[in-house]
Amino acid sequence: MTIEDVLSIKNLADEEIKKTGDLKSVQALRIKYLGKKGVLTAKINSLGAIPKEDRPEYGRVINETKDYVESLIKQQEEFFKASELENLLKANRIDVTVPGFFIPHGYQHPTSRVLDEIVDVFLSLGFRIEEGPEVESDYYNFEALNFPKDHPARDMQDTFYVTDDVVLRTHTSPVQVRVMEKNKPPLRVIAPGKVYRCDADVSHTPMFQQIEGFMVDEHISMSDLKGVLEIFAHAVFGASTPVRFRPSFFPFTEPSAEVDIGCVICGGTGCRVCKNSGWVEILGAGMINPRVFEMVGYDPELYTGFAFGMGVES
Ligand code: DAH
Repeated sequence: MTIEDVLSIKNLADEEIKKTGDLKSVQALRIKYLGKKGVLTAKINSLGAIPKEDRPEYGRVINETKDYVESLIKQQEEFFKASELENLLKANRIDVTVPGFFIPHGYQHPTSRVLDEIVDVFLSLGFRIEEGPEVESDYYNFEALNFPKDHPARDMQDTFYVTDDVVLRTHTSPVQVRVMEKNKPPLRVIAPGKVYRCDADVSHTPMFQQIEGFMVDEHISMSDLKGVLEIFAHAVFGASTPVRFRPSFFPFTEPSAEVDIGCVICGGTGCRVCKNSGWVEILGAGMINPRVFEMVGYDPELYTGFAFGMGVES
């Protein structure tokens, strides 16, 4: 071996390493020159065969060559690793300027919106929400509300019977009885929910939603009923909407009333919606019948209360 041999290895390595086009070929050259059986490794191993006096000079040149090749290979490796990463990033680049996907979203059903709006008014007046079952016993739907068996008032409601004693509730009023059975006055309750009647035409569907409300305490009077319902009507239909009470009949209230508001479509002058009367009925109401209080075990001499029930869709 001569110094020239080593230098020509250096030149060859230099040329080969610089010509590489990818990481793999650089790594192959690392093995070729610096691996266990590499060209330069072989030279280092054969230093022992060099005459003693020449050994330092040979050693220096070989080491320098090894360092040079080593650093050149490292440089190339880093270059290819960096460009591989760059390619990867380029390939997976997220273009934040691409328009997003349109995700279709739904809207709350108009009936639910109206229901929520109405319930909110009563919550703001200190009422709390209660619910009852939609499959109801004849007792809660009728009997305890003072509809005796075979009483003609039952004909007011076109009932879906499940069995002789079980019905789909025809109104939310049974919730009054269920709540009063379990709680002592004072009570301020609002009970929204689905009700069912065997009825279907342009203005009736077999299922619709009602909101029941009632308040029970000592000394509750008809003026409390009027005050609460006026606040409700003004909040929902507008502060200047006129409200009127008409005498009516329900078995579970005495006296009973139907409540109208001035037609919000024509402003009271008469149109198709109000059938030219200028008024639209919005709910039934009244003072809770003492018989209902007796059914739930309240003392009718001590407690009085009002109740009302309205349809949400109509
Ligand atoms: N439950 C009655 C109906 O569905 C509505 C009603 C009237 C509820 C008067 C009441 C009330 O609480 O006092 O026709």
